[in-house]
Amino acid sequence: MSEKTPSHSASDFQLIERPEPIVRADAVAHVVFARRDTATMARFLQDFGFLPLDNPDRASHYFRGYGTLPFCVEVIPSSRDDFIGFALVAKDASDLDALAKYDGLQVEACDGPGGGTRVRLTDPDGRRVDLIHGFSPVPALPTRDKSLPVNTPFTAHRVNVTVRTPVEPAPVFRIGHVVLQSPNFDVTADWYMRRFGFIPSDVQAIEGGRPALGFFRLDRGTEPADHHSLAILAGPSATMLHISTETLDIDAVGQGQQFLRARGWTHFWGIGRHQLGSQIFDYWKDSVGDEWEHYSDGDLMTAEYPTGYHVLTRGGLWTWGDDLPESMRPPEKIPEDAPPEVKALLQALLAPPRPWLR
Ligand SMILES: [Fe+2]
Repeated sequence: MSEKTPSHSASDFQLIERPEPIVRADAVAHVVFARRDTATMARFLQDFGFLPLDNPDRASHYFRGYGTLPFCVEVIPSSRDDFIGFALVAKDASDLDALAKYDGLQVEACDGPGGGTRVRLTDPDGRRVDLIHGFSPVPALPTRDKSLPVNTPFTAHRVNVTVRTPVEPAPVFRIGHVVLQSPNFDVTADWYMRRFGFIPSDVQAIEGGRPALGFFRLDRGTEPADHHSLAILAGPSATMLHISTETLDIDAVGQGQQFLRARGWTHFWGIGRHQLGSQIFDYWKDSVGDEWEHYSDGDLMTAEYPTGYHVLTRGGLWTWGDDLPESMRPPEKIPEDAPPEVKALLQALLAPPRPWLR
């Protein structure tokens, strides 16, 4: 079975110009949601692998992971269900001053667990983006053995030792990435690159070489960074597509899936391995249908790793695993009245991803 892949050169693509950044953010800190039913959202987050914080005096509900961040998710009781935004960690306090000066804002105190200071921005699509610094980390929490050795045809790393991992929530360590859809890809991508130092790791393009899906990593110099902490899809409206979280390994992803199934949550896509970023993935829907991803074994890149440009295809979204869920696949007939860029996006996703799939 062979698939013909057309070859492309850099000149076939509109290259993304990276502006000189104001600051170079270091990590994703947390995400913020508004929920009408905070109790059901809390149940989902705990079944997914977060741990609730006891904050009787606070209006919001906070959830931590097994890593050292004071919290990973804030849920604000509200009269509507919404994604509010997210926060990035600054390397240095002076980064907050630099960004505040650039956008004419103030550095202010954080009101969540761990304290610290922040600059609060609003991205071009209206989402809240905080840059935070000086919060108090918390001690990491113990999990099962993090490094089960792996046997291969060439190695016998695990002898007289079995793999019997427990069916329990996949321990989530941190927010890995946030995926946004924006009606103004160029403006939004430039906004994030300029303010926070994001580097395009891989870009998937549609007709005319126009970027349709960009994967951006943080500039940590010679320190490795996740292949992407932010991804932006060029689409007709401003929405949040999914939040991704890092767990231990493939067994945690698999056993986490069994646990979520047992608890009755809605599975969305997985288990598979992504192509751009290489993560082992599994997607779930929360209490109102927003998507959350468990991942393990993602790619890590230093700042020098070059940007990759690719033609957007459905098959290019993952290496192995099931086809995209029906709701993410384009309709068999593309609507005549769709805007040209939406048509091009749907067209790109129309081709069967594998010879045995439609
Ligand atoms: Fe993802």
